[in-house]
Amino acid sequence: MPNPLTQPEQANQAHWDEVVPAHVQAYEAVAMLKAGGSALDEIELREVGDVTGKTLLHLQCHIGTDTLSWARQGAVVTGVDFSAASIAAARQLAEETQLPATFIEASIYDLPNVLEGQFDVVYTSRGVLCWLRDLEAWGRIIAHFLKPGGLFYIMESHPMWNAFEELESGELKPLFSYFHTAEPLFWDAAGDYADAMYQHQSPSYEWAWTISDIFNALLKAGLQLEAFNEYDRLFFKLFPGMEPCVKGWYHYPQHAGKLPWIFTLRARKW
Ligand SMILES: C[S@@+](CC[C@H](N)C(=O)[O-])C[C@H]1O[C@@H](n2cnc3c(N)ncnc32)[C@H](O)[C@@H]1O
Repeated sequence: MPNPLTQPEQANQAHWDEVVPAHVQAYEAVAMLKAGGSALDEIELREVGDVTGKTLLHLQCHIGTDTLSWARQGAVVTGVDFSAASIAAARQLAEETQLPATFIEASIYDLPNVLEGQFDVVYTSRGVLCWLRDLEAWGRIIAHFLKPGGLFYIMESHPMWNAFEELESGELKPLFSYFHTAEPLFWDAAGDYADAMYQHQSPSYEWAWTISDIFNALLKAGLQLEAFNEYDRLFFKLFPGMEPCVKGWYHYPQHAGKLPWIFTLRARKW
C-alpha cells in the first residue's frame, strides 16, 4: 500500500531540502570524511561492534555522513531519506570519498514498497524520532527490514529535553509536553542546529515521543531489547548555555555527569 506524505511531512520534507546546502558547508563530518576520517562517535562504534562485511540499513540518513562512515568501517551500506536534496548530497559525498553506498529517496513509511531484502543491522541516529508521525509503524518497518538475528541500534537525544526551553537567565524550564500528542508542534522559521547563522525559511512540525513510546514500539514489533544506555553529552548545541566537551559534543559544565543528554538502545529480531 502506498503511503503518501501527510501535510506536516510535506512541510518537513521542504524544510530538510532547504537546509542541505547549509549543512554540507557546516557539518564538520563532511571534511572529516573527505580527509579519511569518520563521523561516528566511540559510543556507537563500541555498542554496534564490528560491521565488517555486514549489510547495514541507515534510516533518515540526511546527507550521508554517518552512512559513509559505516561504509568506511567495512559495512555494506544503504541510506534512506525522504529529502531529495539530502540524497543528492549523500551521493555526491560518496563519489568524492570513493566510498561504496546505495542511497534511496523514500519516506521510511513507504520503504517496504521501494526496497527489497533484509539487513544484518538497521541503524538510525541523531535527531530522527521527532520527525516521525507514527512510532508503531516505525517499529514494524525496522522489524520488516531486519534479518532473523539482526541488530537494531539507535543513538538519539534524550526526549525529555524536547519539553524544555532555556530562559534568558540560563534556567531550563518545561514549556512543552514530554508526552506524545497527535497534533505535532509547529516551528516557524527556527534557527539551525548545525549553523548558528542560518535561519530556516520553511516551517517544520515535530512529534514528541517518550522513552516508553520508543520501547513499546520496538517490543510490539517483536524485537527483543538487549541494552539501553544514557550518556551525559549531546551531539549538538540544543540550548545556548551548553558548551563543547568532547569534539563536536556539548554539555552544561556545571551539570557534568548529572544529566542524561542522549540514550542508546540495542534490540534484536529473533
Ligand atoms: C536530523 S536529520 C538526521 C541527522 C543525521 N543523523 C545526521 O547527523 O546528519 C533528520 C533527517 O530525517 C529525514 N526525515 C524526516 N522525516 C522522514 C521520513 N518520514 N522519512 C524519511 N526521512 C525522513 C530528514 O529529511 C532529515 O534528513
